[in-house]
Order: sequence, then structure tokens, then C-alpha cells
Amino acid sequence: MRILTGIQPSGQLHIGNYFGAIKPAVDLQSRGDCTYFIADYHSMTSLTDAVARRKNTFDVALDWLACGLDPKKNVLFRQSDVPEVCELMWILGTLTPMGLLERAHSYKDKTAKGISPNFGLFAYPVLMAADILLYDTNIVPVGRDQKQHVEMTRDIAIKFNHAYGETFVVPEPEIRDETAIVPGLDGQKMSKSYGNTLEIFGEEKATRKKIMGIVMDSRTPAEPKPDAKKNLAIQMLKLVAPADVAADYENRLCAGGLGYGDLKKALFEHYWTFFAPYRAKRAELVANPDYVHGVLRDGAARARVTAGGVLGRARKASGLA
Ligand code: ADP
Ligand code: TRP
Repeated sequence: MRILTGIQPSGQLHIGNYFGAIKPAVDLQSRGDCTYFIADYHSMTSLTDAVARRKNTFDVALDWLACGLDPKKNVLFRQSDVPEVCELMWILGTLTPMGLLERAHSYKDKTAKGISPNFGLFAYPVLMAADILLYDTNIVPVGRDQKQHVEMTRDIAIKFNHAYGETFVVPEPEIRDETAIVPGLDGQKMSKSYGNTLEIFGEEKATRKKIMGIVMDSRTPAEPKPDAKKNLAIQMLKLVAPADVAADYENRLCAGGLGYGDLKKALFEHYWTFFAPYRAKRAELVANPDYVHGVLRDGAARARVTAGGVLGRARKASGLA
């Protein structure tokens, strides 16, 4: 079984990305043949800074490797290192109805926000279909926002198979558990666009300051707080501390006698300890950029073997070869 997912190179990752996307993907490694790629072609629809793209792409590779992605068991590569995907995108584009693209939620959301649409943004789902179909993918683990794109990929694959004969594997989306939405420092969903993030690899002093700055209510430490379960620091503590420790803090907050300052201090300590092994691994990788570039090169070489075979099939089926 082939599992594939793409990651946009969007800079500093936060703990929402870790618990919502990285950890579930790393956990998948034991289930099958996993391919992960950094979607740098996709990032061109929203970012026109070449230096930032190169840096973000490398940083995302560092972050994923630091967080446990094993490049020996899986394939990790940069999308643009396998340019075959662009040819497949053209082929699939000729079978993609305009109406299908016009109905894409992410396109509609972006244009509604005032982003002036370019062809790349409009064609984004066709590139995503090419990413998926190029590797005979069976399962695509994604967040709910990407479900429609995987459904479009299925439609396009079925259309191609109908027009030119059985060529592509029709993939299935696997939607990640939405109960795992990590709250941000202001209580809304943690997101880069809300400026409420706690970075995975933030600097110690700045991160401590962010945590200690979480705004709480004005009840005194002694007061019992029957709503302790809803407290933001408690919710975050549950992610990074052992279950019994988090439960103990929750009970103490509920009963009264635990001050918010002490709670936030504990949150920082557990956050720092939780990510310590990943931080150490990342520091090793930063000191060895050639290794990281080698992983991406090797991943691309392996991905190209599969891509070449599938693209060859599609060319032959459609009379290009
Ligand atoms: P951001 O909202 O910070 O821009 P992205 O949209 O780039 O984050 O998300 C990258 C991945 O991380 C997505 O797969 C998404 O499901 C996951 N993710 C982002 N924020 C959270 C969060 N607060 N809780 C859980 N998962 C999240
Ligand atoms: N569009 C996805 C996102 O923004 C990233 C992506 C690109 C992807 N190609 C893909 C995800 C193929 C899964 C499969 O999160």
C-alpha cells in the first residue's frame, strides 16, 4: 500500500502543525510505503520570494527529519526535483472541467479574501492530482481542508481511465482526526495567520516569554476553578506532559491553591522537555546540511523511478508515445 502526502514549505512550524500533521504522518511510517514531499511548486502560488522559498524548503526538511521521519524507511523529496509532475499536470489538465476547478473551496476562499487569482492558483488542484497519481498512491492522509482536492484527483483519474484505458490508481483520502485542533496562545485555533503560535523549535527565552504572557482571568490562586478543564494552559499541558502530571495540575487548579504563574511555568518546562530530543536532533542536522541535501537528493532519485514508470504509462495510453 502506498501512502503519500505533501507539505507546503511554510516556514517556522508550530506545535499545532506538530500535533495536527507531523506526528500523525510520522506515526504512519509503520503502516506502509510512505512518501512525503515538500510542495515547493505549490508554494509559488502564494510566495514570490526565492530566498524565502529555498530556506523554507530546507527548514521543513530539517523539521520533519528532526521530528522522527525516517528517510531510510520512507521517501522524502522536494517536489520540483521531480519535474515530471508538470508534464502530468498538463495531461490531466486537458481532462479537467473548468467547472470542477471553479467549485474548489480553497480557490474560492482565497479569491474571496482579495487574493488576485493567477492561473497557478486556479490550477493548483490539477498539480495536486498529478502529485498523487504520479506515484500510484492508494492513500492520501490530509487535513479536512484538503479533502475536496483529493476527491477532485479521484474524478480526474477516473476520467483519464475512462478516456484512455486503465492507467491510474484511484486514491482514497484519509482525513486526520479533527478533534486534535491545537489551541493558540489566545485560545483561537493555533495558526501562523493569527500570530498566536508556539513554535516547535522556538528560542528558549522568547518562548518562555510567550507562555508566561498567556492572558488568564483575575481570580486569585486560592479560588477553586471548576472550569479548569477549559483552561488554555491545562489544554496545552495535556499535549506535552505525561497524562498523570497534567491531570494532577488540572485537579489542583480545580480545587484552588494553584496560581496561574506556577501553571504557566510548568507548561513551559514540559513543553521544553517534550521537544528536547527533537531539538537535539535538529541541531545535529543543522550542523550537517550536506546530509539533509543528500536525503532530499536520494529521495528525489527514488521518487523519479516510480514517476518515470507511471508517466510513461500515461504517455503511452494517451498516444504521446
Ligand atoms: P497554519 O494555519 O499555521 O498556516 P497550515 O495551514 O500550514 O498551518 O497547516 C499545516 C498542517 O498543520 C495542516 O495539515 C493542518 O491540518 C495542521 N495544523 C495547522 N494548525 C493546526 C492546529 N492548530 N491544530 C491541529 N493541526 C493544525
Ligand atoms: N495542498 C496541500 C496543503 O496545502 C499540500 C499538497 C500538495 C498535498 N500536493 C499534495 C497534500 C498531494 C497531499 C497530496 O496542505
